[in-house]
Amino acid sequence: MNSNKAKFDTICVKENLDIKSGEPHVLPIHASSSFSYENIQDSIDVFTGQKEGYVYSRYGNPTIQSVEKKLAALECIDLDNEGYCIMTGSGMSAITTLVISQLEAGDELLTQYNLYGGTTEVFKKILAKYGIKIHLVNLENLVEVEDTLNANPKIKLIYFESPSNPTLNCLDIRGITKIAKANDKLTAIDNTFSTAYLQRPFNLGVDFVVYSTTKYLNGHGNSIAGAIIMNDLDQNQQVWTTMKLMGTNSNAFDAWLLHNGIKTLTLRMDKHCTNAMTIAEYLNNHKRIKKVNYPGLENNKYYDIAKTQMSQFGAMMSFEIDGGIEEAKQFMDKTQLCTIAATLGNVDTLLLHPATASHLNIKKEIRDANGITDGLIRMSVGIENVSDIIEDIELGLGF
Ligand SMILES: Cc1ncc(COP(=O)(O)O)c(C=O)c1O
Repeated sequence: MNSNKAKFDTICVKENLDIKSGEPHVLPIHASSSFSYENIQDSIDVFTGQKEGYVYSRYGNPTIQSVEKKLAALECIDLDNEGYCIMTGSGMSAITTLVISQLEAGDELLTQYNLYGGTTEVFKKILAKYGIKIHLVNLENLVEVEDTLNANPKIKLIYFESPSNPTLNCLDIRGITKIAKANDKLTAIDNTFSTAYLQRPFNLGVDFVVYSTTKYLNGHGNSIAGAIIMNDLDQNQQVWTTMKLMGTNSNAFDAWLLHNGIKTLTLRMDKHCTNAMTIAEYLNNHKRIKKVNYPGLENNKYYDIAKTQMSQFGAMMSFEIDGGIEEAKQFMDKTQLCTIAATLGNVDTLLLHPATASHLNIKKEIRDANGITDGLIRMSVGIENVSDIIEDIELGLGF
């Protein structure tokens, strides 16, 4: 510049980061696509990895990295190492990024029937197209797991959810990882329903933990994001490279909203869980309810196994209203406090009718065989005053 003053249009364009006051107290949103360097040597040092620094927000961003560190620290709290976390644009992109980073054409994946519907679809419709064969079995049956591995040596990864959606089936996670290790296979769990506060998969032998952070970790339903957490540096490098090249990265704003949500995770989860237990017991004794799926009930098939691997039983449940589709619809319409929504894990109580929503495209015989009957309602129990939720359920059942 020839004069001390830049021209009007240059002032409009130039960055102005000369903030002289103290450091921000809370994590700032670094809404910057790229990062600048003081001189060429600085740039070379960062690009060659000799100096820590940021390059481009698809590769890494200070806001996102801060949240990644927090997620890894929570997941690895019982371990000697700090672990690694890569955030992604959604739970689905965490799942696809993980699988693509670990498997190649010709590799095979072992999983269960009752996964989150989107996960089953991406495995069957997308991954299968690229030469990754999917085996769907009942992972509750460890003999079946072992037999499937023996018959299919190309299986490289076992992928599962526990508790699962919408019937809250729990798997013997230790049992599965023991078989996996003996057969030199990797394991990954979607821990979205529990979070590391209720269930620590690394302590149970799992290699990768994936999240839709959209749900309990955020808790307020205002951002979509995902995360992959692991212990191994090489695996972290593979996942990071896949995320960076496929562009499945998160963004600073959604990461920042997640960071805000995580601050109250323990308070929310404690309240979610005590509310859920009260509601499950109430429903369990209600004459209009045929069945309650909640692993915290002592009469639930999964109570014993859930107790050994979860510190509390979560706040997802489903229950079957006596009757069929009409009764379920009436319940959904009569409730006033609970909201019908296709998500879960928010602070407010949410309802979903799987037969007409998440499981609409699954044949009725298959739904019925898996306990997803026309009268089944899924409830994501919120942190409202529990007596208000029960009053609303009574309203729903009072027909
Ligand atoms: C258990 C589970 N995993 C993954 C996902 C996908 O997450 P997202 O919607 O953030 O992509 C969902 C979404 O409902 C889910 O319930």
